Amino acid sequence: MQIFKVGGAVRDRLLGKPVTDIDWVVVGATTEEMLAQGYRPVGADFPVFLHPKSGAEYALARTERKSGRGYGGFTFHASPEVTLEEDLIRRDLTINAMAEDDQQNLTDPYHGQRDLEARVLRHVSPAFAEDPLRVLRVARFAARYADLGFTVAPETLDLMRQLSESGELEALTAERSWKEISRALMEDQPQVFIQVLRDCGALKVLMPEVDALFGVPQPEIHHPEIDSGIHTLSVLEQSARHKQPLTVRWACLLHDLGKGLTPEEEWPRHIAHEHKGLKLIKVVNERFKAPKDCQELALLVGQYHTHGHRALELKASTLLELLQSFDVYRRPQRFEEFIAACEMDARGRKGLEDRSYPQADYLRGAASAARGVAVQPLLEKGFKGPELGEALKRERLKALKAYKENA
Ligand code: CTP
Repeated sequence: MQIFKVGGAVRDRLLGKPVTDIDWVVVGATTEEMLAQGYRPVGADFPVFLHPKSGAEYALARTERKSGRGYGGFTFHASPEVTLEEDLIRRDLTINAMAEDDQQNLTDPYHGQRDLEARVLRHVSPAFAEDPLRVLRVARFAARYADLGFTVAPETLDLMRQLSESGELEALTAERSWKEISRALMEDQPQVFIQVLRDCGALKVLMPEVDALFGVPQPEIHHPEIDSGIHTLSVLEQSARHKQPLTVRWACLLHDLGKGLTPEEEWPRHIAHEHKGLKLIKVVNERFKAPKDCQELALLVGQYHTHGHRALELKASTLLELLQSFDVYRRPQRFEEFIAACEMDARGRKGLEDRSYPQADYLRGAASAARGVAVQPLLEKGFKGPELGEALKRERLKALKAYKENA
């Protein structure tokens, strides 16, 4: 049997990037031989094994054929006769279809190294179409390697377009899609992920609510970039530039969905878009079964981002309602994430990326004024239950009024 390093580990070594996971492919072996050597099978009928000591993944060289729609509709063929080249040709991109032996001798039948040098993401063969998740993967790699100058080959973009139009993307499970989306959002240029999905027509299928923002104008006085879709991409770009966590990035992507619902005769104004967008945010959240903290923050940011921008003008009572909605007393971190998302929204405007955002500190100050109200004195005065809640609210309102006067 022969063992080769494959996929991302080879690609990233050649790019001079750190290698974390290593995938191995085994040529010329049977399942029985692997078991005899102590490898542990990953699934009952999948030819992938874990190394007895390192736990790394070793897969028998295999060919694959799609036998049905969606994931799971695969038949594969693993046997000692399957060659390395046959295994590599079923992979997604040429840069992911190289193998290396323990002497670092490269097997590169589909010219991955040439494409690495030319900075091109190119599919290996028509077998690309067998897994529609690859449309998202290519967009994710485009986001990851954008700084290095990588672009998607025109013929690969065409194939991605065909896949998007074929209805295949709809067969993807929420879990597989979310895994790609969440990883892509955490890349340095997550806006490239959305842009590539849009370029191949996949955004219209995966997130029509985001796609609908493109071509929708906003008032130039607040938004020199005008287009709501371009604005969303810029907000996302800022969120990565400022190293925000996934929750904030997800909220940035969805914060303005309501603008896609504004009737054309109301353009470029978007009255009550915050509220109108909530049902769309909920639908997108559920479509991908986003984690609870991402779902919650996206809804809160959708509803309240304009409050954030107008923080300095808000009445003390409105500030209090805002803080209560965030349950800032028990969830201070979530309010911080809200502030961050508002700031990214303000910065995601053409030419205003580096403008200061005094609302952020003002909101922090308001939160700490309200949180500074102690419960103990109210308990000592005999307040309990709902009355205690009311008393706390009154004291917090007083604290916020004082805060506003002194700010
Ligand atoms: N692969 C593929 N199609 C997929 C998933 C994976 O062809 N849908 C192949 C590619 O050759 C890929 C390898 O399996 O390089 C390993 O996949 P994975 O570990 O998911 O990705 P990596 O390429 O290692 O990239 P990452 O750095 O994002 O983990």
